[in-house]
Amino acid sequence: MKDSKKINSKIYESYLRSPYSSLKLSTYFNVYDQLLSQYRDKSIVFLEIGILDGGSLFMWRDFFGPQARIIGVDLNPEAKKWEKEGFEIFIGDQSSTEFWKKTLNSIGKLDIVLDDGGHTYEQQIMTTESVIPFINDGGVIIVEDCHTSYMKKFGFRKLSFINYAKKLVDNINKRYVEFDNKTSEIRVWSIQFFESIVALHINFYATSIPSEVIFNQDKEVKAEDFRYDSYPIFIDKLEKLSQNKRFRIIKVFIRLFRKLLLNIYHLKIYLRLRKYLKSKSIF
Ligand SMILES: C[S@@+](CC[C@H](N)C(=O)[O-])C[C@H]1O[C@@H](n2cnc3c(N)ncnc32)[C@H](O)[C@@H]1O
Repeated sequence: MKDSKKINSKIYESYLRSPYSSLKLSTYFNVYDQLLSQYRDKSIVFLEIGILDGGSLFMWRDFFGPQARIIGVDLNPEAKKWEKEGFEIFIGDQSSTEFWKKTLNSIGKLDIVLDDGGHTYEQQIMTTESVIPFINDGGVIIVEDCHTSYMKKFGFRKLSFINYAKKLVDNINKRYVEFDNKTSEIRVWSIQFFESIVALHINFYATSIPSEVIFNQDKEVKAEDFRYDSYPIFIDKLEKLSQNKRFRIIKVFIRLFRKLLLNIYHLKIYLRLRKYLKSKSIF
């Protein structure tokens, strides 16, 4: 690699020490350090999908230490040979729910799953869905090579892995107390997006806390809430007017007029925001 000296990462040191070849992106190592350092030298259960030449199995063992259980999954039956080196190896198709049911029931609970398998949307999504119930609280699912979500040959992009992850983001926010919670996400606690990597953090305890607005104590000093300060006052006035019994007959018209004014107000902000984001090449 051209600029290896730029990589300042503990896992990269383990990568270089691996006796066998491993195929990774140069940008992954700092992400690994951030996500995985907390599990070092602990008796964790780590599972990687995609073994290829076996090099990454040795890298993970070197990094996590001897207490960790390192498990590999691959479609290629030849990968079984790595069992001689003390790794647990399971052969099967990562897009098969049947395979996962059988395999995970024999392994038990996991702390970390890293998907470096075939990288199709079906493989990535079915793997994630299958392993979620088996992850311990505080555990993480790391899906690599998510740039395939923007490429041909990996499935219909409408159901790409990134689109699936974005839907989970929507559903995480639907936990908020005021929303209809039919589709709210109660398995994945939070999601991190990195270049080509998505990390899904699992914490069933944290997601089970009901979302509600609370105050820590009654002693309010009655500070003025400035958050609606820029909101045009007449829009509020129209709302109050529509609730007034004297204007019952024209209530519908007042509400429609209020809606129109509100839309004009938001449209002005939208256009201003869009212009700014375009100037930054974000949109
Ligand atoms: C990118 S390589 C893995 C690289 C390896 N982790 C490393 O660091 O060198 C992808 C691996 O996924 C395996 N694979 C492809 N499709 C699979 C599937 N449907 N189920 C399980 N493994 C699969 C391939 O056999 C191959 O060994």
